[in-house]
Amino acid sequence: MRKEIVLITGANGEMGHGLIAHLGETKKYSIVAMDVQPLDDSLRPYCERFIQGDILDLMLLGRLVSEFEIRTIYHLASILSTKAEYNPETAHRVNVEGTLNLLRLAVEQSSWQGRPVKFIYPSSIAAYGLPSVAAKEKAGKVKEADWCQPITMYGVNKLYCEHLGRYYTTNYRQLAADHNKFTVDFRSIRFPGLVSSVTIPTGGTSDYGPEMLHHAAQGIPYSCFVRPDSRLPFMVMPDAIKSLLMLEAVSREKLTQLVYNVTSFSPTALDFYNQVKNAFPKAVVTFEPDMARQAIVDSWPADVDDSMAARDWTWKPDYNEKRAFDEYLIPSIKARYS
Ligand code: SER
Repeated sequence: MRKEIVLITGANGEMGHGLIAHLGETKKYSIVAMDVQPLDDSLRPYCERFIQGDILDLMLLGRLVSEFEIRTIYHLASILSTKAEYNPETAHRVNVEGTLNLLRLAVEQSSWQGRPVKFIYPSSIAAYGLPSVAAKEKAGKVKEADWCQPITMYGVNKLYCEHLGRYYTTNYRQLAADHNKFTVDFRSIRFPGLVSSVTIPTGGTSDYGPEMLHHAAQGIPYSCFVRPDSRLPFMVMPDAIKSLLMLEAVSREKLTQLVYNVTSFSPTALDFYNQVKNAFPKAVVTFEPDMARQAIVDSWPADVDDSMAARDWTWKPDYNEKRAFDEYLIPSIKARYS
């Protein structure tokens, strides 16, 4: 008998930390975690097994298939938007070929098990691309089907992998006689910028928010790389984890689409600064926009419409801006760095 497990890639990343700690606490799942870096010590107790390795390593993935019965895959590993621009082809390999490898693994598992494996995939607001700041201001809350012309390699990769997931779910090998039998059950969320009190993101373009906060909490000056009026949707990590788990749990029949927006609040960089300054009056923050990164932020929506997630799986965030800072970020970051 192979052991039933939940596979989490990108275990050491921001979402990996949040998800593993949360699932681990429930003690309901056997978690097999994967990452190219060694796993953070704080996560080890929650994992049945940690595999240090690359999602591009087919031998490694093959061994996983033979050893475990994988019920759900949370495929979190990815190279984020800023880092991806420094080496777009490497980003494509990790973000697209890596995802393809895991989808193939999921199909293989599904056919072994005679039931579809759930494949939970975090996509991003980077899948959108608005052509100008004026268009961004006018667009307001963007719906899933609108403005899908991403300008970054990361955004292009995310959008394409959403399509791949849909293909594997509904049309995989559609000309084969036995097609449609055991395909995967792909579900995806387009996340806004994420902020955690525990970890700092690396290589993203929404990083100015969390970086400002974590710098201030440590008394380190911070130079913000976007204009004060730049607006993006954000969400705190507990809400992000909640949304992943809600989407995983909902029954398939309720889903009218495979990709959903979620969001909670949409501060400008100045709003972020005001919250930070309020909590850490000695914080030193300057605004020195980097034109290239600014252009990426300007191409992402100021807000997204998450009414489909609300309708199909009763999504609702727990944290608005005030609660996010007053009840989660500030107290927990103060405790962390004190
Ligand atoms: N936070 C990501 C980034 O900045 C977007 O999903 O790349």
